[in-house]
Amino acid sequence: MEISLKHGPASKLKTPCIIAAVYDGKILGACAASLDQSSQQALSRLTTRGDISGKLAEIVTLPECPGLAADRVLLIGAGKQSGITGQEYVKLVRKAASSTVAASLKSATSALTEVVVKDRDNAWKVQQQILAFDAAAYRFDQFKTVTKSKSAQFLRLNIFTQNSGARDISEEVRIGQSLVNGLKLTKDLANTPANYCTPSHLAEHAKDLAAQYKTLTVNVLTEAAMEKLGMGALLSVSKGSEQPAKLITLKYTGAAKAAKPVVLVGKGVTFDSGGISLKAGPAMDEMKYDMCGAATVFGVISAIAEAKLPINVVGVVPATENLPDGMASKPGDIVTSMSGQTIEVLNTDAEGRLILCDALTYSARFKPDVVVDIATLTGACIMALGHATTALMSNNDALADDLFAAGETSDDRAWRLPLWDIYQQQIDSPFPDMANVGGRPAGSITAACFLARYTQKYHWAHLDIAGTAWRSSGPKGATGRPVSLLVQYLRSRIAAKKA
Ligand code: BES
Ligand code: MN
Ligand code: ZN
Repeated sequence: MEISLKHGPASKLKTPCIIAAVYDGKILGACAASLDQSSQQALSRLTTRGDISGKLAEIVTLPECPGLAADRVLLIGAGKQSGITGQEYVKLVRKAASSTVAASLKSATSALTEVVVKDRDNAWKVQQQILAFDAAAYRFDQFKTVTKSKSAQFLRLNIFTQNSGARDISEEVRIGQSLVNGLKLTKDLANTPANYCTPSHLAEHAKDLAAQYKTLTVNVLTEAAMEKLGMGALLSVSKGSEQPAKLITLKYTGAAKAAKPVVLVGKGVTFDSGGISLKAGPAMDEMKYDMCGAATVFGVISAIAEAKLPINVVGVVPATENLPDGMASKPGDIVTSMSGQTIEVLNTDAEGRLILCDALTYSARFKPDVVVDIATLTGACIMALGHATTALMSNNDALADDLFAAGETSDDRAWRLPLWDIYQQQIDSPFPDMANVGGRPAGSITAACFLARYTQKYHWAHLDIAGTAWRSSGPKGATGRPVSLLVQYLRSRIAAKKA
């Protein structure tokens, strides 16, 4: 989706659709009022008649409007004129976006920046409009040879504002454009099935990105190189697969070379069958999404490279399949991780932590300021928190607070779970140093407890995105979460450095 800024008299805007606000009590917003004047009161006739009262997310379309250059006007209820909450605004723009996309329009012009939102500025409102329209407009149809309903695709969002030349808004549009491009990359990669999206495919993708931007460099380790580094945990997962594992490092240098980087580690299991601890059949296809952490890392890095954000970020992606064959790991096998710590693989389906622990140990070489891993790690995460929020765990309160705040701002939310020592005993093993599973209680926490044993040397946070990275229906597909959260986190770090 492309984004542009529009100014000038609303009545002269040539667009398939203008989206304008009506407030509680049938009060036309500034844009609607000016459209009303130019159209011989076509809009106020609707409110007077009672077609729309201004209640939040109420909607009515004027299919024809004499006097206006626009083909249609979509009037949307925006609640209290004095101001609505951030969550209400998100609901409003999502409704505007879904109605526009459902009408098969190729583009539209939103005047919803005028709506007053408590504690939020224009830039934030622009960001939320961009995210809402982009989410509604996204399609993954590259594998269709016949598109049944050749309905037009929504390709362009115009942001209409009165105050032309506002720098914060044009900067937000610029970053928003990079963000939606990054989101598309993440969703496309995640939706690509596992027979196409292999560890090698992910590595090629990283190389393509590095070829695209001078600020990016890429490094791909083969299994032989991982063997040399002693990555016995990671390799124990790839053993059962014909596809070779890859450890992909994608480095973005946007700040001074000496500035310590943020390291993002993304779980890249391109298909998780469970291995010898085989998963149940129903919905197993969804385990192609077990590389959403990796796809997030690539999306974030491509977004910040395109936006040229002044920060250093290193992406580390352990990529492998988890399959059962004669060479596969067996329950009870003991493996040695790169850190030297030994692990009893009680369940081969708890493979995410096995590949992440070696990637996390490896990450220390980048002298990180902080490390954040992103992983579709546990089904238990969905039991605990559902699909609304990512689970956040951390060994550092300030980092946890910053990530939480970034989730609130971007409306790509995360909720912190405890990572107390008391949970560590669940993964103790009678034989080696630890087991890779800790039983059913607090499954997401004990998975993070496992990772915590490999991240003691730096500030670290873990994002479990099992419930948020994709939807099983309505419609099925990758969501691109938590790309927005992480880009917001990086932007806040940059802003904090400046202040
Ligand atoms: N990739 C899965 C986690 C998952 C399952 C994410 C379902 C989203 C939906 C992970 O590798 C896994 O299989 N975890 C096990 C851990 C268990 C064996 C301790 C799980 O959650 O069942
Ligand atoms: Mn698994
Ligand atoms: Zn998995």
